[in-house]
Amino acid sequence: MFQRFRRIRLNKHLRSLVRETHVRVDDLIYPLFIRSGEGIKTEVASMPGVFQMSIDEVLKECIELKELGIYSIILFGIPEVKDSVGSDSLCEHGIIALSIRAIKEAHPDMFVVTDVCFCEYTDHGHCGIIDVQNETVNNDATLELSAQQAILHAKAGADMIAPSGMMDGIIQTLREALDGAGFENLPIMSYSTKFASGYYGPFRDVAESTPSFGDRSSYQMDPANRREAINESISDEMQGADILMVKPALAYLDIVREIKDNTSLPLAVYNVSGEYAMLKLAQKHDLIDYDRVLMETMISFKRAGADIIISYHAKEVAKLLKK
Ligand code: PBG
Ligand code: ZN
Repeated sequence: MFQRFRRIRLNKHLRSLVRETHVRVDDLIYPLFIRSGEGIKTEVASMPGVFQMSIDEVLKECIELKELGIYSIILFGIPEVKDSVGSDSLCEHGIIALSIRAIKEAHPDMFVVTDVCFCEYTDHGHCGIIDVQNETVNNDATLELSAQQAILHAKAGADMIAPSGMMDGIIQTLREALDGAGFENLPIMSYSTKFASGYYGPFRDVAESTPSFGDRSSYQMDPANRREAINESISDEMQGADILMVKPALAYLDIVREIKDNTSLPLAVYNVSGEYAMLKLAQKHDLIDYDRVLMETMISFKRAGADIIISYHAKEVAKLLKK
């Protein structure tokens, strides 16, 4: 049998005609960290280019984002006061509710996603309510309070909620709570497959959410478990999630592909803080062609099957796409 061993030589035009994977600015969601005050824009030491901002600064940031073509953001609140149940996250005058309102009022065309979790709001830094006797997260008590958080976000004007605490049954609980409150059309993006990962280190600096005791391995997933990772996402699909997610991204692209092949839902990856910090440090020391590696990384997410990329690099990516 004749076998052709020569591959076609691609020139610029042919290369773009046959390209299989694309990164678009519309694929990106940019994370923002918001704290109270005015005129505050503090860079995070471990994440150059990422800031804690007060609401007024965030409103300015949105203008810049829109100029770059980025219309999707995910919000994380850093409250003035943290306590054992994360009261600030349940209060209309808390940082997250105020932020959602202010952003939607000034920028109704921004698509505002909110992280539903407790670790940024609790003094112990865990993603739920703690049983004091045995220092473990009380799953069901956390579900109840998460529903309150989600409804607060919805009433403030959030366009999509994203529960990140990995509590069992969270999607069904939130879907029922939102439907019951009249928010049948508010989508839920589940952090459905979220690994207990060392790559979250810098985020915990920004969000000031490092657990004061223990770690998150009782509710986040073991990085060694592939089948369980798929099951977690499929279970969230059955509970009514609208979008699934794998987090972190880079070390888990096999999981991204496998979930993609087992669901018809859109799939997001969270390109997390530690992944960002690694590239930034390599850039700083001139160890790599940063722009090239950055785009190669983004393409790898899309090639693995991601539809949506949540990334601290979003603004840089948007700039490179414009070129
Ligand atoms: C909160 C949350 C975390 C991240 C997103 N939402 C931190 C964590 O689970 O410790 C991590 C994002 C990142 O590292 O960039 N549950
Ligand atoms: Zn959390």
